[in-house]
Amino acid sequence: MFRAVLFDLDGVITDTAEYHYLAWKKLANELDISIDRKFNEQLKGVSREESLRRIIAAGDKENKFSLEELNALATRKNDNYVQMIQAVSSKDIYPGILELLKSLKEKNIKIALASASKNGSFLLEQMGLTDYFDMVADPEKVSASKPAPDIFLAAAEGVGVDIKDALGIEDAQAGIQAIKAAGAVPIGVGSPEILGTDIAVVKDTSELTWNKLETIWNKQ
Ligand code: BG6
Ligand code: MG
Repeated sequence: MFRAVLFDLDGVITDTAEYHYLAWKKLANELDISIDRKFNEQLKGVSREESLRRIIAAGDKENKFSLEELNALATRKNDNYVQMIQAVSSKDIYPGILELLKSLKEKNIKIALASASKNGSFLLEQMGLTDYFDMVADPEKVSASKPAPDIFLAAAEGVGVDIKDALGIEDAQAGIQAIKAAGAVPIGVGSPEILGTDIAVVKDTSELTWNKLETIWNKQ
């Protein structure tokens, strides 16, 4: 049986993937760059800095900004995003997630956060979920962000579980790649067309029950 579950946050525990998108879209508009939801799939799971780089490349504006200006743009996006998430509360936890965290605790399965977001701990706090998590892997301490495996490896190590004994739950292409590269068993939340037909994918988080996780684990 698996011994740990490594959770992504944005788009898995709550709907903040949407807020990230809205905040990036606002910034892109201000820069006269248009982005849509299809383009946004490749921003999911990706760090703040890399997301900005991809948006600027999409607008063919790679050489238009100094490092200082890029930092200011990333800060502007984050300030806007942080404003949006002030109202996040336990009401915003996706269906099934709290029940799943409770069953994992009952069964002594370790729970870790493997989010690329520097706002992860704040959001867990807002939703009243901090105590369920045995550890929160720090995205500032890993050398490469998703799709590199580092944050999932750090999360498993943080709870003292071999990565091969862990399940990873993700809504992003970059995140699934990271879980695979780490050597944990991936579960996608979303559609197989986007996340892959070679892994277990649930349509939404209400399907993430203890029984489902057990079935997925026993099938691999
Ligand atoms: C990931 C999101 O969880 O965190 C990305 O899917 C986001 O959209 C990344 O860019 C970094 O988040 P933050 O809050 O540190 O800018
Ligand atoms: Mg996500």
